[in-house]
Amino acid sequence: MLIFDAHESNVRSYCRSFQDVFVSAKNDIMYAESGKAYIDFFAGAGALNYGHNDEYIKQCLIRYLESDGVTHGLDMYTDTKRLFIDKFVRGILNPRGLEYKLQFCGTTGTNAVEAALKLARKVKQRSSVFSFMGGFHGMSLGSLAATSNRSSREGAGLPLEHVTFMPYPFGYMDTFDTLQYMENVLNDDHSGIDKPAAVIFETVQAEGGIVPVTPEWMRGLADLCARHDILLICDDIQVGCGRTGTFFSFERAGIAPDMVTLSKSISGYGLPMSLLLMKPEHDIWSPGEHNGTFRGNQTAFIAATAALELREQIDMDRVVLEKEAIIREALGRFEAEFGSRIAVRGIGMIWGVDLAGLGDPDLSLKIVGECFERGLILERVGRNDSVIKIMPPLTVDPDNLRRGLDILYGAMLEHIAEHSKAGA
Ligand SMILES: Cc1ncc(COP(=O)(O)O)c(C=O)c1O
Repeated sequence: MLIFDAHESNVRSYCRSFQDVFVSAKNDIMYAESGKAYIDFFAGAGALNYGHNDEYIKQCLIRYLESDGVTHGLDMYTDTKRLFIDKFVRGILNPRGLEYKLQFCGTTGTNAVEAALKLARKVKQRSSVFSFMGGFHGMSLGSLAATSNRSSREGAGLPLEHVTFMPYPFGYMDTFDTLQYMENVLNDDHSGIDKPAAVIFETVQAEGGIVPVTPEWMRGLADLCARHDILLICDDIQVGCGRTGTFFSFERAGIAPDMVTLSKSISGYGLPMSLLLMKPEHDIWSPGEHNGTFRGNQTAFIAATAALELREQIDMDRVVLEKEAIIREALGRFEAEFGSRIAVRGIGMIWGVDLAGLGDPDLSLKIVGECFERGLILERVGRNDSVIKIMPPLTVDPDNLRRGLDILYGAMLEHIAEHSKAGA
């Protein structure tokens, strides 16, 4: 690791947990220089819903590259962009009765969030936005202002303003009527909290610790926003694109947010793409008012179109449902063994095992470290990183899915037993 340690900035993070040099990868397995193969339950932080180097998407990309198709086109009209828009509108939006205009943003998720916040403020002519405690929306300053994580916020170097954090129905707010609280804040002319242009939310707080909200809560939020003339922005960057069992994660609530942000797995192959969907009446940008050099990466358009085709070919939502059942069954075993010492949360193919109840902040670190030793890549999220996140590619081989869950179970058995002995 010497060259990385010597020359790469201290800001590097995941590589500190996954101490090997990776050289190739296929679907749910990553291969390292050390000769080891790792089952991947990290899936590029959600960018690899279709696995590593999916064969169908890869062949589409190879054909495109060999044809000398345009690789960089700013926001010029290209045949690749036309193909993607057509596929997305006819394959995703129309069947769901959704009508959105598409804005191709810079390369990464935070670019779509920045665009959404800027546009919402412009539409409503209000500067404030509501976000939720536990929410994560990116690292550039506008998105970071809506991100709750203290250590990330401390990196801003200036005050992060114009965002008010509302309680999310989790943890010490579990039994609190969070929507009624918001209602009161908005109705109370002495609340001291300005009416926001928008509310930005995740249907499953992912970095916040794998916390799904109920469909009723989402409907209540959408209703509250509509009644108070506030835009609703669903940040579907991590849990969209099929992760929860439907293409958009808000589908289970039957709502249609005013804006939706997508990135990560929209391009399917880990290629950079970031997309803002907005209801047509909110598309009040003037030409070039929000632009950037790397909007609409052409190879990402190819991969994204192929990914949407692949979704149909393999009946992705059914596949997710089947594998969700495998995960639920395995986690049932975890709950039977560890009881109330752990909490299990999730939906579709994003799950968390929360160890906060064990009261040892190092335990999750030890367990994911042990898993890595045993050939499984996992990330930690949530308050004090106490939640072990299970997020394999949606295309994970069922045997590898079971194998990975077994590795996690084994590592937990060992370390939780050790922890209990030390506490005894
Ligand atoms: C919900 C959500 N929004 C926004 C982002 C930011 O995306 P990016 O890291 O690509 O900028 C993330 C990243 O994890 C995310 O999970």
